Amino acid sequence: MSIAITGANGQLGSLIIKQLLQKVSADQIIACVRNTEKANEFREQGVEVRFCDYDQPESLDQAFAGVTKLLLISSSNQDDTIRFRQHAHVLEAAKKMKVKHLLFTSFAFLGSGSISPSHLYLATEHAILTTGIPHTFLRNALYTDFVGVLGLNDAIAAGELSTYPGDWKFNTVMRSDLALGIAAVLSESGHENKTYELTAPRPWTFNDLTKALSELAGKPVSLRQDPLIQNWIYGFLGKTDTSSTSSDLERLIGDPIIPLKESIKPFITF
Ligand SMILES: NC(=O)c1ccc[n+]([C@@H]2O[C@H](COP(=O)([O-])OP(=O)(O)OC[C@H]3O[C@@H](n4cnc5c(N)ncnc54)[C@H](OP(=O)(O)O)[C@@H]3O)[C@@H](O)[C@H]2O)c1
Repeated sequence: MSIAITGANGQLGSLIIKQLLQKVSADQIIACVRNTEKANEFREQGVEVRFCDYDQPESLDQAFAGVTKLLLISSSNQDDTIRFRQHAHVLEAAKKMKVKHLLFTSFAFLGSGSISPSHLYLATEHAILTTGIPHTFLRNALYTDFVGVLGLNDAIAAGELSTYPGDWKFNTVMRSDLALGIAAVLSESGHENKTYELTAPRPWTFNDLTKALSELAGKPVSLRQDPLIQNWIYGFLGKTDTSSTSSDLERLIGDPIIPLKESIKPFITF
């Protein structure tokens, strides 16, 4: 069996390969990357590296030759129309090269989203169904990293976190937990034609965030709702389902996911 991962040089892809190396032998893993010069660490660990550019269909045929399981990590292009074309190139090559199982990193609780990326992820899932290849949709929650744009360090300095009014709830997770769950799916059998909502099992709120900030800072940080706040993130958050939860990720990992307080430490710089 050979398992190929696209976008392998990226943050999620490299974490998945790290976890996969704990579960299968290195010679079963193929890292598909756009920049092969950046992939020496994989080679040093015995992982085969293949050139793979979603914009160059001929590179994809070569990258997927002999592959049993292919994980398509969604493209990071900013234009969702281009992303769809890139994903379609991958699907065409997967079909041509007779890949046996196609897995895709989609987005959690897609149905209620009304932003362009939600349409892109749903369109890609439907396009995957047209290939007839057994599939697994790995619907990833929003990365907890989004807290990086909320001004956590300023909030600690001011003793107050300002947020846009609303009953916000977040099912976010860290990439490292997603990588554990996805590596489990890639290395096990029995996940064909399944959809997993890889979210936190319980949502957290901005009250939980200020509590965690207070504990980490060793001083009180209160929450203030401010309707005049200027932050693009609320436009995005308001149009995606960040509150629905599932136990799929913890079940796949077999352990609790990283708690909020631990997750936000990398974004605090004191
Ligand atoms: N759930 C969320 O909150 C969330 C947030 C942001 C993004 N995402 C999605 O999740 C994906 C994985 O996240 P990540 O953190 O690992 O992102 P990342 O670190 O930006 O990695 C994306 C990877 O995709 C590769 N890539 C981009 N264009 C490509 C192309 N034309 N052909 C082949 N490979 C290409 C990049 O290659 P290079 O290394 O050569 O640049 C990179 O390795 C993203 O690409 C995005 O679709 C999810």
